[in-house]
Amino acid sequence: MTARTEPPAGSSGWTPRIVAFFCNWCTYTAADLAGVSRLKHEPNARVIRLMCSGRVDPQFVLEAFAHGADGVLIGGCHPGDCHYAEGNYKMLRRFRLLQRTLRQLGIEESRIRLEWISAAEGEKVKAVVNDMVHQLTVLGPLNLPGRFREWDGELEPSTPSAAQEESIHAS
Ligand code: FES
Repeated sequence: MTARTEPPAGSSGWTPRIVAFFCNWCTYTAADLAGVSRLKHEPNARVIRLMCSGRVDPQFVLEAFAHGADGVLIGGCHPGDCHYAEGNYKMLRRFRLLQRTLRQLGIEESRIRLEWISAAEGEKVKAVVNDMVHQLTVLGPLNLPGRFREWDGELEPSTPSAAQEESIHAS
C-alpha cells in the first residue's frame, strides 16, 4: 500500500481514525499507485477494499462510527466510469441520506466524505487523505463509544444522595 509518515499529534497526542471504503477498480488502485510512487500521506486511514462504492451499505458507515472512527471516507469511480454501470450513483444517493442521518444524530457532516478518484489519481488520494486528517484534527475526536457509555449511565437508576435520603426519612 502507501508510504507512511508519523501521524500528526494533536496537543493531547490524539490523532483521527479514518475508515476508508475504496472501490477495487479505481480508488484502491489509485491508493496502490500512491504507494508505488512513494507519495507520502498521513497514516490515519484504514482502507477496506470493496468491488464497487455501490457496495457500501449505510450500515457499514454507521458501524464504523459506532466502533470509534472519527471519519469515514468513501472512494469510487468517476460518474460514468463505474464497472457496474451505476453503483457510484447509488452511493451518491446513500451519501446524501447518510449526511442527513448524521446531522440528525448531532454528528458533523464533514466526518463523512465521498470522492471520485480514478486509478490514475494517486496524487488525489494523498491530497484527500491529508485534507481529511487536517479537517478531523480541527473537529476533534467523535468518541461515539464513549458517548454510548455516558448515555447508558444516564439510563441507570441513580442512588439517592445522603441529603435526599435524609429528606425522604424526615417526611
Ligand atoms: S466499480 Fe468503482 S464505483 Fe463502481
